[in-house]
Amino acid sequence: MKFFIDTANLDQIREANDLGVLDGVTTNPSLMAKEGIRGQNNILKHYVDICNIVEGDVSAEVIAVDFEGMIREGELLAELHPQIVVKIPMIKDGIKAIKYFSNKGIKTNCTLVFSPGQALLAAKAGATYVSPFLGRLDDVSTDGIALIEQIVFIYNNYEFETQVLAASIRGPLHIIKCAEVGADVATCPLQSILDLLKHPLTDSGLAKFLSDAAKV
Ligand code: G3P
Repeated sequence: MKFFIDTANLDQIREANDLGVLDGVTTNPSLMAKEGIRGQNNILKHYVDICNIVEGDVSAEVIAVDFEGMIREGELLAELHPQIVVKIPMIKDGIKAIKYFSNKGIKTNCTLVFSPGQALLAAKAGATYVSPFLGRLDDVSTDGIALIEQIVFIYNNYEFETQVLAASIRGPLHIIKCAEVGADVATCPLQSILDLLKHPLTDSGLAKFLSDAAKV
């Protein structure tokens, strides 16, 4: 399973990349705003800065919600850097835009996916990635992991090449569950990745090894 980091914070991207386990980055307009990145030129430069830190795919989201606008923005984003993946919302014009970009060989990430039917449409349109938001489903008492599992099952039935990119991850258990059900990618906050490191028996075991080593 690939690990992406879900942030626009350059320090966090560097920290995850330095761990050596990072395969890519996802951003969205909320994450860009959180970092105070505003204005088209600053936003475009920020995407290039991210691409210069990591080696893998970097999802950059369009703001337009009409077909022509998404094509215009998506082409601008795709020209920025070969690592850019155009992130497009799961709406009717979004599906048309994904098909358009797919025909042109431009990678896409279909975002805001909350149902298996939406995921099926994204795959039919040729999306490179589909992003089901599992944490936001959990927030409304719906089983987010069950959706990931359902999408993986459907895609395997028909050998769709679209990769299941589990998004809206809230903690390390989400990452483990995604791995169990076969998600291709988990995009995570840095803390959720770091939390995978934690086990009290590792800490106490290491403390004992170090104290014993000091005796000899
Ligand atoms: O990037 C999309 C997704 O990961 C958002 O997560 O935490 O805002 O639900 P969250």
